[in-house]
Amino acid sequence: MLSDTSVRLGAPAPGAPVNGAPAPGAPVNGAPAPGAPVNGAPMNGAAPAGVQLAAPAFLPKRVIDLRTVIKSYPTAAGEYIALRGVSLEVDAGEFVAVVGKSGSGKSTLSNMITGIDRPTSGEVLVAGTPVHTLSEDEIAVWRGRNVGVVFQFFQLLPTLSVLENVMLPMDFCGTFRGERRERALHLLGQVEMAQQAHKLPTALSGGQQQRVAIARALANDPPLIVADEPTGNLDSHTADAVFHLFETLTSAGKTIVMVTHDDDLARRASRAVTLLDGQIVTDQRHYTPHAVVDEVEPIEEVAADLEDDWLDDAELDSDLPAGASAAPARHA
Ligand SMILES: Nc1ncnc2c1ncn2[C@@H]1O[C@H](COP(=O)(O)OP(=O)(O)O)[C@@H](O)[C@H]1O
Ligand SMILES: [Mg+2]
Repeated sequence: MLSDTSVRLGAPAPGAPVNGAPAPGAPVNGAPAPGAPVNGAPMNGAAPAGVQLAAPAFLPKRVIDLRTVIKSYPTAAGEYIALRGVSLEVDAGEFVAVVGKSGSGKSTLSNMITGIDRPTSGEVLVAGTPVHTLSEDEIAVWRGRNVGVVFQFFQLLPTLSVLENVMLPMDFCGTFRGERRERALHLLGQVEMAQQAHKLPTALSGGQQQRVAIARALANDPPLIVADEPTGNLDSHTADAVFHLFETLTSAGKTIVMVTHDDDLARRASRAVTLLDGQIVTDQRHYTPHAVVDEVEPIEEVAADLEDDWLDDAELDSDLPAGASAAPARHA
């Protein structure tokens, strides 16, 4: 199960299919190009420019890097500051629960990460892309390739069948041509919804609709899933099943950010970030995600590989004076 959800590393392929901006209320999940690497996050201890790490690279990848993000909204009563300089770093394979009272800024934070909304100031780097610098059209394209978004109220298109809803992001992005139907059925099978493929969303329970929404979020195999209160409208048993599905995805290498009111669920995530009045007040790591630990190559080996590359460059560059090196400066 979920064997096709492994993390793929590297920059998005140039010329990869482009998806348009979704209409308001339409699904915002899209797709990486089939077979194209989708996770362009910079390495921890960034690799020097020009040095290619052999794929797959085994260091944890920074998937989210929020730098001093401020978000203010104009209101009749004046400026309302929903995020007050939030910085947050999340690596591949982490399962981060975002908790906090109603109005603390959880949805605003989630909307910064998905590019659904823009920061007033600060930087939003996701999968290596400075999302805050992109135009609306570029954001839609980027999101389509990199982020699966799951909402509290599912947001399935009511006039389309379950199967069509899951196929939509692939249609939208021009991905998985010739295999969309099979892929959609496969994803629905993973969330145990294949039997309902030809029903309309209105014929389903809330839990069933959310499972379809998760299948849709996975349609294009994005490295990051962002879910805003995905269990907020579900009974506890169904919420547990949805949480378990996310756990399975993280062990397959996906990164999950899940906004939740449920403290029990938050404790079971690999990390819990608490917001209060637009600021992160606690950031607790509960365990290190298996997907990252299992694949971590000893840092010495990575460093040795880099050193070898630099030596090769230096040997090739015979124009350099003795003692000079073509190797780029090592970054801290
Ligand atoms: N578009 C908006 N205009 C004005 N205020 C907003 C807007 N969106 C959110 N807010 C305010 O920002 C604060 C944080 O909202 P939100 O991120 O939705 O909180 P949470 O998801 O934690 O309940 C709330 O006080 C909310 O009223
Ligand atoms: Mg909210």
